[in-house]
Amino acid sequence: MTTISFKLNGKKVQVEAPVTVNLLALLREYLDTTGPKFGCEQGNCGACTVLLDGDPVNACLVLAPIVEGREVMTIEGIGSPDKPHVLQKAFTEYYGAQCGFCTPGMIVSAYALLKKNPHPTRDDVVNAIVGNVCRCTGYAKIVESVLAAADQMR
Ligand code: FES
Ligand code: FES
Repeated sequence: MTTISFKLNGKKVQVEAPVTVNLLALLREYLDTTGPKFGCEQGNCGACTVLLDGDPVNACLVLAPIVEGREVMTIEGIGSPDKPHVLQKAFTEYYGAQCGFCTPGMIVSAYALLKKNPHPTRDDVVNAIVGNVCRCTGYAKIVESVLAAADQMR
């Protein structure tokens, strides 16, 4: 076991966990942060996407001790049902979510894009979510949702 201290969604946390646990399991099973989803656990689906120091990563591929002293943001840090982020509202308004399994990861990737590039083209959006697999929407509605949010945020 090891002790890991880091910032999670703006708050300092300290947790004891096995050294071999990955960040996805640490978040979900030790810190009750269940927005990031278990999909493939092989870095292929993006359902587990979180921000590590502002950059999107697949939490299933990050060993938890690596986040010591760093900042992790999940969908929970972007918005809540009471106070949704513009992106979350746009995904609802523009039908960017169907079953919703991919949605937390999609929104985290889109959030990182809009932080760096408030004027994304359609191709920029497609490239930003290239690692996020959706089995439901066909992607067009997701891209539309992100572009609509970008418009509203300017
Ligand atoms: S669960 Fe991490 S990429 Fe699929
Ligand atoms: S909305 Fe179902 S997997 Fe994307």
